[in-house]
Amino acid sequence: MAATGSEQQGGKAYYVTTPIYYVNDAPHLGHAYTTVAGDVLTRWHRQRGERVWFLTGTDEHGQKIMRSADAHGVSPQEWCDQLVEGAWKPLWEHLEIGNNDFIRTTQKRHTDRVQEFVQDLYDKGEIYKGGYEGPYCVGCEEYKLPGELLDGEGEFAGQKLCAIHKKPVEILSEENYFFRLSAYGERLLAHYEADPDFIQPESARNEVLNFVRQGLQDLSISRSTFDWGIPIPWDAKHVIYVWVDALLNYATAVGYNENQEKFESTFPADVHLVGKDILRFHAVIWPAMLMAQGLPLPGRVAANGWLMVGGEKMSKSNLTGIKPQDLTSHFGVDAYRWYFLRAIAFGQDGSFSWEDFTARYTSELANDYGNLASRVAAMVGKYFDGALPAATADSEAEKAVHEGLATAVREADRKIGDQLDFQGGILAVFDFVKQVNGYITEQEPWKVAKDTSDEGLARLATILYTAAESLRAVAVLLHPVMPETSRKLWESLGAEESLGALDDQLVQEAGGWGRLPAGTKVTKGAVLFPRLEEKPTA
Ligand code: ME8
Ligand code: MG
Repeated sequence: MAATGSEQQGGKAYYVTTPIYYVNDAPHLGHAYTTVAGDVLTRWHRQRGERVWFLTGTDEHGQKIMRSADAHGVSPQEWCDQLVEGAWKPLWEHLEIGNNDFIRTTQKRHTDRVQEFVQDLYDKGEIYKGGYEGPYCVGCEEYKLPGELLDGEGEFAGQKLCAIHKKPVEILSEENYFFRLSAYGERLLAHYEADPDFIQPESARNEVLNFVRQGLQDLSISRSTFDWGIPIPWDAKHVIYVWVDALLNYATAVGYNENQEKFESTFPADVHLVGKDILRFHAVIWPAMLMAQGLPLPGRVAANGWLMVGGEKMSKSNLTGIKPQDLTSHFGVDAYRWYFLRAIAFGQDGSFSWEDFTARYTSELANDYGNLASRVAAMVGKYFDGALPAATADSEAEKAVHEGLATAVREADRKIGDQLDFQGGILAVFDFVKQVNGYITEQEPWKVAKDTSDEGLARLATILYTAAESLRAVAVLLHPVMPETSRKLWESLGAEESLGALDDQLVQEAGGWGRLPAGTKVTKGAVLFPRLEEKPTA
C-alpha cells in the first residue's frame, strides 16, 4: 500500500509511535530496540516521499517513578528532568533517532488535555465510582488477576509474584473511579475480526483474542494512595491511573482538543510500536478509550519480542551491565542500528551476544558491504582517474544485476515499509550486495584492465559502472537503517551533485537503472566499517 508522496502531502501524515518510556532509570538496549525500529520505519516512509510524524517521549507519573525519585532523595519532577535531559534525549540523538516530537507526560500540553478527556468520559457516564481490592504490581503499574501470579520461592517463599517482574505483588484496596471497559469486549472482538492486521504478530493477536474472549473487567482509572499524577478534575483527592494518562500521549502530542487541524492530519497512529509486555494496554484499553470518546482507532499495534541477554529478558531490574553506548563505541552507531533488526525477526524474542554481533559485523558489514564500496571506488580511481565511465553494451551478466536490484527494491519496500519485517527487508538488500560482489568476482575487472584495446576498455567501463550504480541504489535503500554510512557512500560516489541530497531520493525510483550519470567524480572515501578493536574487557 505504498502511497505516493503527492497523495500523502495534503492528507494524513504517516504517524508512528514508540511507547513513552518510564524514566525511573536510564534507557537500555530494550528501549533502544523499539525506538530504532520506529526510526527505521519512519525514515523508510520519508524516503517514499510521504509526510511522516514520529513520536516518542517519556512516561513520568505513577508510583514507580515516585519511588525511584524518593530513593534518590529528589522530587519526582527533578528526577524526571535529570533523566530526560541527561540520559534519554542524548541517547536518541546519539542513535540518530529522527523523532518529530518528544512528549513528556508532565507537560501542561498533556496534563490539561488528559483532564479534559477524562472529564468528558465522566460526563458521558463512562466512568463511575467503586471500590477495588486486589494484587498490584508496581513494576507493571497494573492490578493483576490471581490466576496470573506465580508462587514465590526462596526469599519470596509464601508470596505471590508478578510473572513479568518476578517480584512480590502488593495487595491494594482503594476506592477508585472505574471506566466501563467491560462494555467494550464485543466491539473490540468485532474490530479484531474485521481487521486481522490490527494486532501483530499473529501470536500477539491470539493472546489478545483469548484475553478479551474471557470477558473484560471494568478498569480502575484513579489512585488515591499517592499523589504523583494528574488530578481527577472533579475529585482532586485522586490522581488519574498512570496508564490512562500515558496512553493519551498519542492524542495529546498531536493536538487533541487543542489544534484541530494538526490532530485531524495526524491522528490516529498508523502504527503503535510496543513491546509484548504492554500489548494489552494498547490493543484493548486504548481502543476502548477511543471508542468511548468516538475517536478513530489506530491502524496497527505491532509488538516486538523480548531482547534477551544471557537467556533473560533485558530489563531495568535485571541489569546485565551492557549499555547501548558500550556497543556503539565499539561497533559504531550505524552497525548498532542495523544489528538488532538484522539479527532478530521482528516480533520474536532474540538474544544478543557480543560474539554474534562481531561475526555479523565482520562478514556482512565489513566484508560484503564495506569492501564492495571501497573496491569499486578504488578501481574507478585507478582505471578512470575517478571519473565514472559510461556503461556501453549490457550483457546477460549486467541484466541479471539490473533485475537483482529491482527485486531488492520491491522486497525491501514491501517488507520494511508495509510489513515491518525489518530483517527480511535488510536481507533483501544484502542479498543484492552479495550478488554484486559475485558479479565482480566473475567479471574480474582487474584482468579486463590488462586488455588495453577499445573493446577491453569498454568492457571495464561497463563493469565498473554497473557496480557503482548498484552502490548508488544500496546507499538509498540502507539510508533508513544506517544513515551515516549511506551519507559517506553517497559522497564517495559523487552522487549529490547530479542526483541531489540523499534525503530526497525516493525508494520508488531507487530501482530505476542508470540514474548515476557518467562523469561523476568518485573518490575513495572513509572506510565504511573499520576493523573492530579487541573486545573491551569489563
Ligand atoms: O511500559 N526487549 O515503559 P517501559 C524488547 N511507560 N523491548 C523492550 C525490552 C526488551 N528486553 N525492554 C523494554 C512502559 N523494551 C510504559 C509505556 S506507553 C503509553 C507507556 C521496550 O519503560 C518495549 O517497547 O517499561 C517495551 O514495551 C517498552 O520498552 C517498555 O518500556
Ligand atoms: Mg516495563
